[in-house]
Amino acid sequence: MNLLVVGGGGREHAIIQKLKENPSVTQIYALPGNGGIAQNAQCVPIAATDIPAITDFAVKHHIGFAVVAPDDPLVLGATDALEDAGIPVFGPRKNAAIIEGSKVFAKQLMQKYHIPTAAYGVFTNLKEALDYMEDAPLPTVIKADGLALGKGVIIAQTRQEARNALRSMLEDKIFGESGNRVIIEEYLTGPEVSVLSFTDGETVVPMVSSMDHKRAKDGDQGLNTGGMGTVAPNPYYTPEIAQICMDTIFLPTIRAMKAEGRPFRGCLYFGLMLTPEGPKVIEYNCRFGDPETQVVLPLLETDLLTVMQATAAGKLAQTPISWKSGSACCVVLASEGYPTHYEKGFPITLPQLAGDEHIFIAGAKEENGRLITSGGRVLGAVSVKDSLAAAIQGAYDLAGRIQFDNAYCRHDIGQKALAAKEEC
Ligand code: AMP
Ligand code: GLY
Repeated sequence: MNLLVVGGGGREHAIIQKLKENPSVTQIYALPGNGGIAQNAQCVPIAATDIPAITDFAVKHHIGFAVVAPDDPLVLGATDALEDAGIPVFGPRKNAAIIEGSKVFAKQLMQKYHIPTAAYGVFTNLKEALDYMEDAPLPTVIKADGLALGKGVIIAQTRQEARNALRSMLEDKIFGESGNRVIIEEYLTGPEVSVLSFTDGETVVPMVSSMDHKRAKDGDQGLNTGGMGTVAPNPYYTPEIAQICMDTIFLPTIRAMKAEGRPFRGCLYFGLMLTPEGPKVIEYNCRFGDPETQVVLPLLETDLLTVMQATAAGKLAQTPISWKSGSACCVVLASEGYPTHYEKGFPITLPQLAGDEHIFIAGAKEENGRLITSGGRVLGAVSVKDSLAAAIQGAYDLAGRIQFDNAYCRHDIGQKALAAKEEC
């Protein structure tokens, strides 16, 4: 069977390597893919958001199954276009992808269906937003409604910072239309947990939980990034908390989307905060997380294509899904200076891999048979071991055997999880 995967980052590399394990797969096309993905799939220079070109390509190449991985094509309706052309797809249709595409939609859904989340207000008018904010407790959280490349959330510690954030979104339009509406939200505290799930609109099957490290520097300092590393499972996510999340968040969300006439089929990502009052939703994503996927999929024992096809066909309830018992850690090697200014164009030297090691390439291209850095986050070094401590050590050992100029990584990926494990 010919498969098509839309996207071109580390997440897509992890998805493609896992899909390749299925013997019925003859060819995988990645649109656009990257220099690392080119080792596992045929990369085609079609942008992930060029939906007419993607659909045209899929029809011409007799694609038997498609996976749309990134948020923007999903929110723009890539699944709708492919399905309407007769191609089965893993990934929600546009009317369900809105759960990530509009934070206002997500908040209103949670309010209507009593799904626990931070208290909030929605504003389109700058003066009203500024007035409301004058009495809001600090810190306060300000969010642009639409997609903003992961930069649309500002945690304001002072009123001046909050005023500046509101002005930049509602008046200066730094996020364009995505900031036409803003949310001012209560600041929550507690450990964060990412739970990706497979759902066909009726059944929801959570994957192994994970923990992201979003800040650029050690000790959660520095700017927010796309993610500097991950571990799975997340030790804060105990079986008791998992049951509470299933009863108060996961099933109510799936049922709410169905009741709204927006059944969600694909990967629904629950970004959770374990607050003193119980687990609350920080955000929904309509897709696999990056770099969460790089630690979650290596722990999946069941064939990924089988699970994705069952999800698309509404047959998840009849599909057993099992996980390996160990832990995984991903250390992201970035270009020094990421997420602001960084140089690219440096050759990468990759080591031999052991069976429990993976390198998922995010920002690199192939030039004259060599892999050259081409992005901020260059790759993820992943190790899967019996224990979390061993997986962390394994990922850093692997990262140390990878070479390119100006490489940068955090040195404390997994340390918070390790401390929590000792506490639990
Ligand atoms: P998001 O872009 O929605 O993932 O938000 C980025 C990060 O901001 C989250 O991972 C949280 O660490 C933080 N955040 C978002 N909303 C809140 C909130 N209401 N209270 C505290 N932190 C938050
Ligand atoms: N790692 C967070 C995300 O994918 O949104």
